[in-house]
Amino acid sequence: MKTYRDFDNYVKEFPDERGYFGEYGGAILPDELVPAFKEIDKAYQEICHSAQFINELRRIRREFQGRPTPVYHCERLSRLFGSCQIYLKREDLNHTGAHKLNHCMGEGLLAKFMGKKKLIAETGAGQHGVALATAAAYFGLECDIYMGEVDIAKQHPNVIRMKMLGANVIPVTHGLKTLKEAVDAAFDAYMREYKDAIYCIGSVLGPHPFPLMVRDFQRIVGDEAKEQFVGMTGILPDAVCAAVGGGSNSIGMFEAFLNEPVDIFGVEPLGRSENIGDHAASMKYGSKGTLHGFESILLQDENGEPLPVYSIASGLDYPGVGPEHAYLRDCGRVVYDGVTDEEAMSAFFLLSKYEGIIPAIESSHAVAYAIKYAKEKGKGSILACLSGRGDKDIDYVYENFGTGEELLEKHLLL
Ligand SMILES: Cc1ncc(COP(=O)(O)O)c(C=O)c1O
Repeated sequence: MKTYRDFDNYVKEFPDERGYFGEYGGAILPDELVPAFKEIDKAYQEICHSAQFINELRRIRREFQGRPTPVYHCERLSRLFGSCQIYLKREDLNHTGAHKLNHCMGEGLLAKFMGKKKLIAETGAGQHGVALATAAAYFGLECDIYMGEVDIAKQHPNVIRMKMLGANVIPVTHGLKTLKEAVDAAFDAYMREYKDAIYCIGSVLGPHPFPLMVRDFQRIVGDEAKEQFVGMTGILPDAVCAAVGGGSNSIGMFEAFLNEPVDIFGVEPLGRSENIGDHAASMKYGSKGTLHGFESILLQDENGEPLPVYSIASGLDYPGVGPEHAYLRDCGRVVYDGVTDEEAMSAFFLLSKYEGIIPAIESSHAVAYAIKYAKEKGKGSILACLSGRGDKDIDYVYENFGTGEELLEKHLLL
């Protein structure tokens, strides 16, 4: 088992040149796609060290995205649970309302530097699609977003947003018509168009170099948060936590704290029960396997096919995690735990009513974990990543939970 003392040179050593974090990662691709991913890898290795690229990304973050986003001390919420202090990294205040834009702007800038004309991606709930369509509009690139027909019907406002931003939303009509089929369709399109286009994945996963690139682009979350927290309090937090879907906001948050004496918790969606199809807790119930061109921990059946997943937060219902998370779990540096739909929804309403912040349901999982931690410890501090704002969720929440009084009473929280 590794401790924070083993992580001083970690970022330089992981992933290795084949894209592996220990036994997880890699680029397991059909022959036709190998040149495309090699081209991205080569371009990124060159560009990520160029002062021109780094300075331009810094300028974009400051002037377009509105970074740095603040760290906020939840004084009223903390008081409800004793003396442990809860802080939030406010990625909900990043332009477009979530952390996803951090890697989309990086990927868009890379496409521009590579002379590509188009960005291609899949989207499930539409969050990644909206962020990528935003990046495409900013950089003057075409944008094709593949989306399952079922998701198109469910996520109407995000479909409209993508179209308003100038993206083509291409319906995927085979199989279950959701995220997995959309990824397959985006890969197919990329295979045909890679000379003019670049594929942009939605989280810290997929074939190498995406887990590396997305980590690098999301690192800003933890780097800023650490400096801001120390600036506010004079010390490090005792713990940090973040919700884990594919794992991009969490990896961004964790990276800055891996070599510090801070406990780190990844929060998975335990959903509505332990049954298959009722949760998306890959770390808790999954095993090693291969999906979408990389090796990681997956929820899969005995034939290696992905199992159906569910979470009340549509951004968390992926049947796997990024390979770096699998490594960080195995070596013991990060603890992966979970919260249920109900715990997440209680946190949604508490943060809204006690702090005036309506969180995304995905991010409510991290807030719920911070609350659990605060109750249990009764002292110290925890810094949670508030990965996005909840505007996209309010119609669904109101329809299913009203304004939350019943749920909070049930949990003796009002
Ligand atoms: C607000 C928000 N938080 C978290 C996630 C989960 O993604 P990841 O684990 O890649 O951060 C999503 C995904 O759509 C999201 O929209």
